[in-house]
Amino acid sequence: MLHDFLHLKAPGHWINDPNGFIFYRGQYHLFYQHFPYEPRWGTMHWGHAVSDDLVHWEHRGIALFPSKGYDCNGIFSGSAVEVDGQMYLYYTAIRYLQENPEDIHRALDDRFEASQALVISPDGLRFDNLKAKRQVLPVLSQPGDPKNTRDPKVWRAADGSFRMVLGSTHQGVGRLLFYRSEDGLHWTYLNRYTDPALGTTLECPDLFPLGDRWLLLGCPMGITADGLLYPDQSTFAPADFDEASGTLTLTRAPEFLDWGLDLYAPQSTLDKEGRRVLIGWMRMPRPVEDAPDGRPAWRGMMSLPRLVEWRDGRVCFPVHPNVPRCFTRPAADLSPLGEHRPVRLTGTLRNGESWNLGGFRIGMTDGCLETDRSPLLEGLTGCRTTARTPDLGADFCRLEVYLEEHIVEVYIDDGRYVLSQVVYGLGSALEGTFETMTTV
Ligand code: FRU
Repeated sequence: MLHDFLHLKAPGHWINDPNGFIFYRGQYHLFYQHFPYEPRWGTMHWGHAVSDDLVHWEHRGIALFPSKGYDCNGIFSGSAVEVDGQMYLYYTAIRYLQENPEDIHRALDDRFEASQALVISPDGLRFDNLKAKRQVLPVLSQPGDPKNTRDPKVWRAADGSFRMVLGSTHQGVGRLLFYRSEDGLHWTYLNRYTDPALGTTLECPDLFPLGDRWLLLGCPMGITADGLLYPDQSTFAPADFDEASGTLTLTRAPEFLDWGLDLYAPQSTLDKEGRRVLIGWMRMPRPVEDAPDGRPAWRGMMSLPRLVEWRDGRVCFPVHPNVPRCFTRPAADLSPLGEHRPVRLTGTLRNGESWNLGGFRIGMTDGCLETDRSPLLEGLTGCRTTARTPDLGADFCRLEVYLEEHIVEVYIDDGRYVLSQVVYGLGSALEGTFETMTTV
């Protein structure tokens, strides 16, 4: 069996969104959007991995694959809940409207329809793609959109019944749809929420209570149009939500969840200790061809797990405590990276100062943290090289940085802001003053 440590990577070929993230029968399960033939997006399957601690991952192969008329062109994103000891996996079923004679893995002229479906697994390890699937919501034209209605996030409500939120669109404006079910099988429409803050279409919604409020995570399409590679972004917004009626009000404008702008489609669950934890997909502009563990060319990985919590009136995303716990060995420099061992650095950065981590530059200017990865993109064009947080309101900040061969994650002031970026060819140069430098 293939294993990953810290960052779950594609077992080969392509991955995108995390799906069905759940702590179930004593283990974490993480499914993911997977095209198992090439390092590019195509007919979607759900790959599957399990973990005891959110940092050591064991790949378990493909869980869900197209097998029905309604899902014959893809198993899009969705979520998991436990119902009477069984694992219920909800997903969006895709059917193309016309065959594409030159590439059966992509819809011709982007013409497809979407419905919502369910697979019931008795134990989270066996998935009967022929007998255990059923459609739970048909292709919708009202109040949804037959094509762009997707990514069911299901949870158990305070009264023991179930809720589902779907991302959708209406007349060019992003929309959320809310459904209710008593048994997880039969669903009735409850309410909707439409807002230009949700872009033109909202993908991958996630909605959960956090303290005495609710938090909406979502990926609005079309809110930035800067002509660069990644126009779609992950956002979060505090909200008031009435579970009984499905009435949502955003109490603040959405903000970026990760200022590196590579992270997309985050999904959350509750960890073993009952804390809200999320993982997001790190988009990679090109595949890694020469993996040291011999896996086929792979493209896409998951972020580190992050907690979601309120602190001083703000939503913060500190790294999950199981991550720093792995970094016990002192490291004098970046050389462990050469042995494919990750490095953790901590320190304080003041206005006007900068660090150089193997070609990845982190600096503080005018109260903002800025990064520049331009030497680490190996000739890629049309890809963001620099990133910048909002004004931190101070002239110094505390940094906790995780470095691996293909990713740098920067936690600022213990997750008050996070900035993560994909890199290629991290070097061994090291300039800066660090308080701790450790490896695993
Ligand atoms: C987000 C997304 C989802 C969809 C899936 C398809 O990255 O577009 O909305 O379900 O990817 O792979």
